[in-house]
Amino acid sequence: MPKQCVYEQEDESRDLRFQDLRFTIFDAMNISELVRKNIKVLKPYSSARDEFEGEASVFLDANENPYPSEYNRYPDPHQKKLKAKIAALKSVKTDQVFIGNGSDEAIDLLFRAFCEPGSDEVIIPQPTYGMYSVSANINDVAIRSVNLTNDFDLDVDSILKLVTNKTKLLFLCTPNNPSGNLLSPEKVIQLIKVFPGLVIVDEAYIDFSSQPGFVPLLSQYNNLVVLQTLSKAWGLAGLRVGLAFASPEIIAILDKIKPPYNINTLSQSVALNALNEVNQKNAQVSEILAQRKILTTQLNNLPQVEHIYPSEANFVLVRIKNARQVYQTLIQKGVVVRDRSNVILCQDCLRITVGTPEENQHLITELQTL
Ligand SMILES: Cc1ncc(COP(=O)(O)O)c(C=O)c1O
Repeated sequence: MPKQCVYEQEDESRDLRFQDLRFTIFDAMNISELVRKNIKVLKPYSSARDEFEGEASVFLDANENPYPSEYNRYPDPHQKKLKAKIAALKSVKTDQVFIGNGSDEAIDLLFRAFCEPGSDEVIIPQPTYGMYSVSANINDVAIRSVNLTNDFDLDVDSILKLVTNKTKLLFLCTPNNPSGNLLSPEKVIQLIKVFPGLVIVDEAYIDFSSQPGFVPLLSQYNNLVVLQTLSKAWGLAGLRVGLAFASPEIIAILDKIKPPYNINTLSQSVALNALNEVNQKNAQVSEILAQRKILTTQLNNLPQVEHIYPSEANFVLVRIKNARQVYQTLIQKGVVVRDRSNVILCQDCLRITVGTPEENQHLITELQTL
């Protein structure tokens, strides 16, 4: 059933739209109405290996070097084995999985698929992960920014007030970077239900949190896109493997416009092996969570630390006296944290990633000497 149309006239006032949205519960979204026209009609690149079916032993179709090595052949453009593995791990179907060169690629492709440059808009509650805005700017898509509340949760009414008939995407990051907290799940669901575009829920840090995340809700909401990554809990930032989970219709659009060989052979095979080691990932996550607790306690004991925001991620946001100066001094001692003191709602804040016990102790020792 097509999604109800809220905006029938271009000149409708924002407030009126907002009133509409508050009381509108949408049926399933008509995704094809959201896609850019050129993408809808795009004939995707057809790679050499796409064009034959069956078994073969002589491959003279892709202008590769014939002399065997581990990497003389192009990678599987459909990442079939890796998708099957991820689908099984996440209890979704393979056609609900997109694999990107980092989740940053999925973010960029969402803009390219759904946002008309120079015309469409996206909503980004701040402060949050910087790539949403950078991708919007690269793709010439207008950003409507709204602040999170003082405790970094969603202000649903303020977000909905920004919706216009040009709004295509809403980015929600939970646990949020740089604040570390989970967004209220009830508010996220409220937004998914009424937002007249795609809601992108970025769960890069979900493995460190106490919540199950939104993947299980995909079957209920076809305008929901969940981003995850192997860069954080799985310890594979260097491989560049990011994940998007969504309805088969959205995944097919992302697959259609991605570069054909976006995940190289080495990344596919290392990721596949790593995903068999769930116990190792879980053990590392447990250790990082234990270290987060110890680090938080030790930071709290420092006189210059004013506040540590509650974290459900592998980092903590810390309000500290003279943050900028502390940041510079730590660099001189060879310890790099992230200075977030110029970021909205993060005045005087440093974002500190939880390291190994030795690294955390090193940081604390340096801070004690300041
Ligand atoms: C919230 C969030 N999403 C996505 C990413 C990027 O992930 P990837 O390495 O998969 O591109 C980051 C990286 O810091 C992040 O903080």
